[in-house]
Amino acid sequence: MRQTRNPDRKVPTRRISFEESFQDVPRHFAAEGNLILSCLAASLSSVFPDGEDFFVRSVRHYRDEITDPELKRQVSGFIGQESVHGREHRAFNDRLDRLGYPTKRFERITKKGLALRERALSPESNLAVTAALEHFTATLAELVLSSEETRDLFGHPAVRDLFVWHALEESEHKAVAFDVYKAIGGSERTRVVTMNILRFGFVISMAVGVTVCLLGDRDSYRRGNLRRSWRTARRSPFMTRDLWLQLRDYNRHDFHPDDSDTSQLVEKWRTVLFGEEGTLNDKLATSAA
Ligand SMILES: [Fe+2]
Ligand SMILES: [Fe+2]
Repeated sequence: MRQTRNPDRKVPTRRISFEESFQDVPRHFAAEGNLILSCLAASLSSVFPDGEDFFVRSVRHYRDEITDPELKRQVSGFIGQESVHGREHRAFNDRLDRLGYPTKRFERITKKGLALRERALSPESNLAVTAALEHFTATLAELVLSSEETRDLFGHPAVRDLFVWHALEESEHKAVAFDVYKAIGGSERTRVVTMNILRFGFVISMAVGVTVCLLGDRDSYRRGNLRRSWRTARRSPFMTRDLWLQLRDYNRHDFHPDDSDTSQLVEKWRTVLFGEEGTLNDKLATSAA
């Protein structure tokens, strides 16, 4: 029985390493040295390594229940992609740690929090969390891939490359966890309730992360610095009602991640990053060999 909406979906695992390029990332790497956006990227990156491990575990739990060979293949791709994301964000977090960011502390808190919820709740509920957070990453990914203004906010080229590559792969596999959730007969009520909790929970945890990060930065206390950063951050595409509404779209009873067609965007960025003249080809393990 067909269990994927798109049997032709390609989810390639790319062995890539950004570690070398992180070495010259400065403390305030975001555009115009923006303190708030630097802390936002750091907070987001801090939850990725253990978050992605959690995603992998929650999907892998059901691998044997998937009968559609195409969805099985996509699940393998999903696991491969998320594993590399976790590794590369950990390398970025190590660099940020050396620059004075609380990224390692955030990683530890994320790991403990997720382990706790995994023990307390059912595998179905954990998969519902993954499917909902995949809609978060897919929504943010679409924004990053479609808006140059958003990409520019990452500032330093190494940070921008990391997030653009991650955005491409999130778009490539955006429906996999969702299709697995549907395939195992995941409840509709759990799916929507989980998203309702996460929509606020995620935004609040990011706000707390940014606040803690700013409090630990001496430059936050310099006159006018925070006000200037806030003026740009507030107007950024990350803080719009449109983004919030796109997240809420997940609650529609007939929602599917592919409803928002990003196939052309994915094609474009595959060529830009990994085509013949791909800008990230030099970071792939195969071309380095
Ligand atoms: Fe990811
Ligand atoms: Fe993902």
